[in-house]
Amino acid sequence: MDRVKDKVIVITGAASGLGLADARALVNQGAKVVMTDIDTEAGQSHASDIGATFFRQDVSNEASWNELMGQVEQQFGRLDGLVNNAGIAPIATIEDTTTDMWRRVMSIHLDATFWGCQSAIKLMKQSGGGSIVNMSSTAALIGLGPYLAYSAAKGGIRSMTKSIAVHSRQAGLGIRCNSVHPGSISTPMVHTALKTLLGTDLLAEEDPEKTRKAMGIGEPDDVAQMIVYLMSDESKHVTGTEMVIDNGDTVI
Ligand SMILES: NC(=O)c1ccc[n+]([C@@H]2O[C@H](COP(=O)([O-])OP(=O)(O)OC[C@H]3O[C@@H](n4cnc5c(N)ncnc54)[C@H](O)[C@@H]3O)[C@@H](O)[C@H]2O)c1
Repeated sequence: MDRVKDKVIVITGAASGLGLADARALVNQGAKVVMTDIDTEAGQSHASDIGATFFRQDVSNEASWNELMGQVEQQFGRLDGLVNNAGIAPIATIEDTTTDMWRRVMSIHLDATFWGCQSAIKLMKQSGGGSIVNMSSTAALIGLGPYLAYSAAKGGIRSMTKSIAVHSRQAGLGIRCNSVHPGSISTPMVHTALKTLLGTDLLAEEDPEKTRKAMGIGEPDDVAQMIVYLMSDESKHVTGTEMVIDNGDTVI
């Protein structure tokens, strides 16, 4: 029950989907969780239900990271974990991706993960270490035609993670950094994708549970359990890895 007892953990994009499931699972295992999101209403409401703290943050704003880490230091005096989870997934191929769309995706995924890791490491160093998880995707490992910018950003997150893991080890920081690569998981992001790509959200139709299983789509808790493991000391020898959670999609 106490796999992450008293660890102070920040999760971005935690008002919905995977971030919300991560927050719930970590609080259930004894963590002190700070949930951040641009969606203040949902974020505050879920944080108060779960027993977490909410901080309004747009991850693509560099200044927000200093404000967040300042608040965490003031409230808890330390940081043990960061899950860089916030994301958007616009559907556009190489032929129809606009420059604005490209920059927005890079900013929310790549810039934010860079700022998040950099600011977290400063605080984690003060208490001797910590664990960072960067949310990537199977889009970083295989070709997804309709997700040009998203795939490029998730590939960058995968490589950035490994660089941070190697540096942290060589510098003796006591900080681990891993990427997580889910396949399709039933969250609002995937409901929107189904509507756009198939013309209908099959998961919202009759017997969604049966449809979800038939389509090989996972549940948010499938990812949250991996996050608990990576945030806990059970994974103390695990860094620089890419944890794939896709029911075998990428090996078929
Ligand atoms: N659901 C999947 O199948 C799947 C698969 C692979 C990877 N992922 C990744 O997992 C992460 C979570 O996705 P999800 O499926 O839970 O999506 P979701 O849409 O349910 O949740 C994303 C959350 O991020 C927040 N967000 C968006 N832009 C933000 C910003 N600028 N600043 C702060 N918060 C912001 C949203 O408000 C929302 O609460 C994303 O990085 C996504 O790319 C999801």
